[in-house]
Amino acid sequence: MKKVFIRTFGCQMNEYDSERMAGILLEKGEYQIVNSEDEADIIIVNTCSVREHAENRELSYIGKYVKNKKVVVAGCMAQNKKQELFKLFPDLFAVIGTFNFLKISDILKDENKKILVDETDIEFKTNYKREKKIDSLLTIMTGCNNFCSYCIVPYVRGREKSRPVKEIVEEIKNMVKQGIKQIMLIGQNVNSYFDEKENINFPKLLKIVHDIDGIERIKFMTSHPKDLTDELIETIKAGEKFTKHFHLPLQSGSNKILKLMNRKYTMEEYAEKIKKIRDGIQDVNITTDILVGFPGEDENDFLETVNAMKKIKFDDAYCFKYSLRKGTQAEKYGDTISEEEKLKRLNYIIELQKNISYDINKSYLGKIFNALVLSQSFKRKEELKAETDNGKKVFMKGDKGLTGKIVKVKLIEIRGDSFGGEMI
Ligand code: SAH
Ligand code: SF4
Ligand code: F3S
Repeated sequence: MKKVFIRTFGCQMNEYDSERMAGILLEKGEYQIVNSEDEADIIIVNTCSVREHAENRELSYIGKYVKNKKVVVAGCMAQNKKQELFKLFPDLFAVIGTFNFLKISDILKDENKKILVDETDIEFKTNYKREKKIDSLLTIMTGCNNFCSYCIVPYVRGREKSRPVKEIVEEIKNMVKQGIKQIMLIGQNVNSYFDEKENINFPKLLKIVHDIDGIERIKFMTSHPKDLTDELIETIKAGEKFTKHFHLPLQSGSNKILKLMNRKYTMEEYAEKIKKIRDGIQDVNITTDILVGFPGEDENDFLETVNAMKKIKFDDAYCFKYSLRKGTQAEKYGDTISEEEKLKRLNYIIELQKNISYDINKSYLGKIFNALVLSQSFKRKEELKAETDNGKKVFMKGDKGLTGKIVKVKLIEIRGDSFGGEMI
């Protein structure tokens, strides 16, 4: 048995792809998945290209192991850099891109086949062996057609492709049999999911998934604000299994910058959608992504972002500073904001969001939620880790036999970005 370690960088799409690579290798019966680099004969590095910082971390990780182990680079940076990776690392065993990674066992076996990065028709493999757990990811669509001007994803993941509804249902039924209670449906823009043959859009898919027996909780991400419809809000409101959480990346509060980013909505339209969600769904959790330092973002544009964050009051915000990506539309605008200024803006909004999140979380103390018990807590063994029906993490004392069950929890203290609670 060859020992394989998979190191995953990047987003949930990569996490899911890593799980599938592990599943495929396990099915072969010739590989064992191990938990650390030291134990491994082979290291698969599943990479992200979204920011230069991510690529740099990945390159130094590869550099650390490439001489002593068989290293395979998979994922978005493999697709982005292709052959160039062999120039950087002549000892690299192989490179496998985002369209080909299901052929991972072929590339491991064949000493001569060093690179597979063709943009072939992507397959959605079902029914791979999964780790034993309560919650799991499921990709319902790959690629992206939006071409936000700063973003490399459409170039490394190709055009949008929705997975047929029949396959999704089949896979979820199998997941239920394996004991999975919570699924997160993932895609770069799940709102534009569409099964043409069956004429099923995203809200209709959600309703179908909701009706599958044995699934207790359904989450989804990411939603592009331009495609968020009233039908989706109504659907989430009506189905008790849906986690009341929307991750709706705003990116910027300035209409000038939103236009340059090619986001296809204005700040006013965005705020209107948030209002509809909040009017419709009690205790709804709304999170976002913010990108500062986009070329041409002046003080005033930045202030508009700050004001938008103060006004909307997101439950949480993932904040990034602009990183120029070669080949994207925004490359032609240059990289006009200095690193120092970008960092200043980034730190400012991180601090701002920390205070907003804290105030929101404080307002939740004393409230009672239904929470799905996911596992025993990793740090404190006497505690359970659970997730409320609006997607907040909570830790409380309890028997691990409750794993997979929905319990009632009162939130009693704030612990970083999660809560301490007690079962009632
Ligand atoms: N499909 C999702 C996000 C994918 S990437 C969406 O549309 O929202 C996740 C986040 O990374 C983005 O929301 C954006 O905030 C950030 N990001 C993408 N490209 C970036 C770049 N070139 N520099 C810095 N941050 C970037
Ligand atoms: Fe990138 Fe925009 Fe597509 Fe999201 S929607 S993956 S930010 S191009
Ligand atoms: Fe995800 Fe990074 Fe690729 S964000 S899709 S792993 S470029």
